[in-house]
Amino acid sequence: MTKRISLTQYLVEQQREHGHIPAQLRLLIEVVARACKRIAISVNKGELGDVLGSAGSENVQGEVQKKLDVISNEVLIEANEWGGHLAAMASEEMDSIHVVPNRYPQGEFLLLFDPLDGSSNIDVNVSIGTIFSVLRKVNNQRGVSEEDFLQPGKQQAAAGYCIYGPQTTLVLTVGDGVAMFTLDREMGSWVLTQENVQIPEDTKEFAINMSNMRHWDAPVKRYIDECLAGKEGPRGKDFNMRWVASMVADVHRILTRGGIFMYPWDKRDPDKPGKLRLLYEANPMGFVVEQAGGMVSNGRQRIMDIQPTKLHERVSVILGSKNEVQRVHDYHQDV
Ligand code: AHG
Ligand code: MN
Ligand code: MN
Repeated sequence: MTKRISLTQYLVEQQREHGHIPAQLRLLIEVVARACKRIAISVNKGELGDVLGSAGSENVQGEVQKKLDVISNEVLIEANEWGGHLAAMASEEMDSIHVVPNRYPQGEFLLLFDPLDGSSNIDVNVSIGTIFSVLRKVNNQRGVSEEDFLQPGKQQAAAGYCIYGPQTTLVLTVGDGVAMFTLDREMGSWVLTQENVQIPEDTKEFAINMSNMRHWDAPVKRYIDECLAGKEGPRGKDFNMRWVASMVADVHRILTRGGIFMYPWDKRDPDKPGKLRLLYEANPMGFVVEQAGGMVSNGRQRIMDIQPTKLHERVSVILGSKNEVQRVHDYHQDV
């Protein structure tokens, strides 16, 4: 019988043998994984659990909240409130940070999350997910404030996502490559199913919302036009296209078989740097993709080098197979 390694065993090994993570971080990741298990149960119940449809409210970004956005946010907050390892949390669904109350000494970490990514896919039974990012609380001399969260992505201690699809899979990096864990529903445990995930450097598959084409900037238009020209065009090969509209699902496909994902800045709203959020979408996905040998850029710089200026900051995102992302990045320098 093949030996099955659980998430707990993997993390203990990361802590003891590789010295990558302190015990507090291990416990924090376990709590997040447990919360994802609870969210997975709600997702699976669907109509039977009264979790579909709108919650009748809006988040700070003016987006209509779905019931599952709100439920997932509550599950993550509740699960992480008592462990002692966290100083505060921030989420797509909360205007400002949530400070973990009354603890001494104060927790050493900060947790950010997109509790439910791909909200438009909830009611149509298509893959959705949870994205999370862990930062160290750099200044331990005082209380915690929003400013503590404004750290560049390269300072993340851990990041990952859970995808609720045909399988429920947790994808994690603690800065030592990327590992995937599949939820064994009968046993209720996360089982290591892939280690050292590597994104192929080249690809023939792109992911972008083509309905925005008329609003794109010249470098993005040039790249996609060249892909669409296929074998007869300058790239000399045919390209395929996929767009799930859940970042978790599009990134998961790229981790599995390569590809490039773009949600670039466009002219619809020129003052908005992009649609996706830097701190709890682009940075955690960026950490995972880079740890799998991929590249992540906003067209001008490495996303994980960006110094954030606000909690819900948005960013233009180009990520995936190294050689393709490099090409789009280079096209941006040509203009
Ligand atoms: P969220 O559901 O957390 O708001 O994120 C949705 C994001 C992302 O998952 C996806 O890539 C993108 O929005 C899809 O946007 P379009 O509907 O504009 O294609
Ligand atoms: Mn999202
Ligand atoms: Mn979301």
